[in-house]
Amino acid sequence: LCTEFPRVGESSLTQSNCRAKGGAPGFKVAVLGAAGGIGQSLSLLMKINPLVSVLHLYDVVNTPGVTADISHMDTGAVVRGFLGQAQLEHALTGMDLVIIPAGVPRKPGMTRDDLFKINAGIVRTLCEGIAKCCPHAIVNLISNPVNSTVPIAAEVFKKAGVYDPKRLLGVTTLDVVRANTFVAEVLGVDPREVNVPVVGGHAGVTILPLLSQVKPPSSFTAEEISYLTDRIQNGGTEVVEAKAGAGSATLSMAYAAAKFADACLRGLRGDAGIVECSFVASQVTELPFFATRVRLGRGGAEEIFPLGPLNEYERAGLEKAKKELAGSIDKGVSFIRN
Ligand code: NAI
Repeated sequence: LCTEFPRVGESSLTQSNCRAKGGAPGFKVAVLGAAGGIGQSLSLLMKINPLVSVLHLYDVVNTPGVTADISHMDTGAVVRGFLGQAQLEHALTGMDLVIIPAGVPRKPGMTRDDLFKINAGIVRTLCEGIAKCCPHAIVNLISNPVNSTVPIAAEVFKKAGVYDPKRLLGVTTLDVVRANTFVAEVLGVDPREVNVPVVGGHAGVTILPLLSQVKPPSSFTAEEISYLTDRIQNGGTEVVEAKAGAGSATLSMAYAAAKFADACLRGLRGDAGIVECSFVASQVTELPFFATRVRLGRGGAEEIFPLGPLNEYERAGLEKAKKELAGSIDKGVSFIRN
């Protein structure tokens, strides 16, 4: 295969000694923040996804190296790199799916909300670009605090007159991935056989694993429920502390983001029965955004499933989650409105 790898800045140059290629069927995907801890591994995983025909890597630093490196992989996707704000529009034009892991990660002692000041502005700028260049793309938002950055993105899209709530998806897959892993450990089974719905949001007590709805149906002692809930809610902090200042989850996050992006692409292709948890505009609770299981289709999150029956422990957790979520959502909305 002849891989296109323009020098950064020359967004669609084809190497002169490459024969013209028919263009493999597939989707066009952009990763914004592609040179970061999550971005690099995620870009690698998207390069090996057979549903991807074109992969655009955008960052404000280091995209030339990451692009050159990834473009040498002998998989179908054509890789192009884009560096700095002046190339954002080229990076976004024509994209079907835009994945955003741009922004600063946590250090020990920080909450996700501590990232708001820096990441809110980054997400606003990137979403303004999306509104202008690929308003119909599906957006997978990873940058924290997700509970606020998704409302920020929604406000930016509304302002630009292009908001489609079905196409804006906050990525909470890592919470599900962690929950599956930790529950499988407790049950002594293969994590690939476990599915734990995780609802609410993506920070501390807003991360609400529904252990009463685990598939395959399983029962847990009160002690196990308390251990699992705490570990799932604090899985991110576990990694932040272990990395001791070197960042937050990047590898497991790239895996989770690639899993979610693949589900979105299969939905775009028209596959039936694609269901994942995601933080989306929702009427499941009184809050304007909430994470629940959603069915992914050609239009994005085409169906939002209700919470299902909750036990008393989960109902108490839900009340706590909603209280914190309400504040985080307001903070995001106000950032754009005021
Ligand atoms: P990182 O610092 O390693 O990488 C971030 C990248 O974003 C850097 O390459 C940086 O140059 C780039 N960037 C900064 N400003 C930018 C802009 N204006 N436009 C484009 N790119 C820009 O951070 P890491 O570890 O990759 O984390 C990225 C984000 O993902 C953080 O906000 C982190 O909190 C979040 N995260 C979210 C998770 C989730 O479950 N949703 C899980 C783990 C992290």
